Amino acid sequence: MSQHSGKLISIEGGEGAGKTTVFNAIRQFLSDAGLTVIGTREPGGTEVGERIRQVLLSPDHRIVPEAELLLMFASRAQLVRELIRPALAEGHYVLTDRFTDASFAYQGGGRGLPLAQIEALERDFVGIRPDLTLLLDLGVEQGMARAHARGQALDRIEQERTDFFQRVRDTYRQRAGQEPERIVIIDASQPQDDVVRQVLAALGRWMAA
Ligand SMILES: Nc1ncnc2c1ncn2[C@@H]1O[C@H](COP(=O)(O)OP(=O)(O)O)[C@@H](O)[C@H]1O
Ligand SMILES: [Mg+2]
Repeated sequence: MSQHSGKLISIEGGEGAGKTTVFNAIRQFLSDAGLTVIGTREPGGTEVGERIRQVLLSPDHRIVPEAELLLMFASRAQLVRELIRPALAEGHYVLTDRFTDASFAYQGGGRGLPLAQIEALERDFVGIRPDLTLLLDLGVEQGMARAHARGQALDRIEQERTDFFQRVRDTYRQRAGQEPERIVIIDASQPQDDVVRQVLAALGRWMAA
């Protein structure tokens, strides 16, 4: 969608799928290869984005789906301009824990907002798609069990019902089916070492291509 010399890699998947685990492994792999890698996350990643994240994830708020969508894109618009585009222009790797695919999955699939609306926001306010997306695909029950086992209180979105997360998963998989060149599905139900190995192998193949 736009010209730059760096690479944007996103990690996607449901709650407890292993995104943070994989994020750390990829970051290590790229820096071991002598590359500059800038890590970030969504919602958040900038000072204002992290404030928006607090609003979005606090269980104290009742946020209507439309406001949730716009807050996600407000955070993303800030992140793209403040951090991602400048880093890509410098030729760096940017690694992000979630990006626009998450809005399609959560606010589109999960909340049921029209995909055309999300596409318009992406086009007008983001204007960039990841070069590579690693989708950690995991059954909803298994993901929730892992998220619970982390021992932290669940945030506002993590408190949603099973059918919500099922729609999130279905939408992610549907997108991967539509863009198989960009989105690589990883079976995240495997043991952690196997997931990491498979992710790094996919990354290595993509970098060599
Ligand atoms: N493949 C795996 N098998 C079993 N447990 C895992 C696996 N990957 C991650 N975990 C554990 O599950 C929990 C959630 O992983 P995490 O990386 O935080 O997921 P996410 O960032 O996607 O929510 C953590 O306690 C992590 O150690
Ligand atoms: Mg995480």
